[in-house]
Amino acid sequence: MSRIPLPYNPKVMDLFRNPKNLGKMEDATVVAVAGNPACGDMITFYLKIDEAKQVIERATFESYGCAANIATSSIVTEMIKGLTLEAAWKDITWKKVTEEIGGLPSVKFHCGVLAVGALKRAIRQYFTQKKIEAPDWLQKEHTFEEKQALEEEELAKTLSKRLKPEAEKK
Ligand code: FES
Repeated sequence: MSRIPLPYNPKVMDLFRNPKNLGKMEDATVVAVAGNPACGDMITFYLKIDEAKQVIERATFESYGCAANIATSSIVTEMIKGLTLEAAWKDITWKKVTEEIGGLPSVKFHCGVLAVGALKRAIRQYFTQKKIEAPDWLQKEHTFEEKQALEEEELAKTLSKRLKPEAEKK
């Protein structure tokens, strides 16, 4: 079967081939895993946080996703470096990331949503794991990106339901 290559722009291709901040972070303050129900791909986001200032010092990622996911994750790790948790939470959206990367084919929007969803999951997790009272800016309701980026278990359930024959679903 022949496959038509997707029309990725040069910036996406460059970040896919030479991703920045790829890999596990041993001294991460918080780690979040997220998966995309649209394709079943997974991503892990690592944040090193200056806890006194609530500033993101470094971010890295591991991706089992596609070129668009690797490129958007890479650019997210660059965009959030030095931002406060509040600024990263409020300012980083999948639309902004897509713009920053010079656009994505529409069938690949969900890959950028996954990258931002993993970031937002990591920020939320920071407050729950550390048992710090959530600040006012951290809305209780999950953001669009978080809703699209499921936890590993949720993702496995969603995918297994999808794979079950129709008769078994009833
Ligand atoms: S197709 Fe799954 S992350 Fe892009």
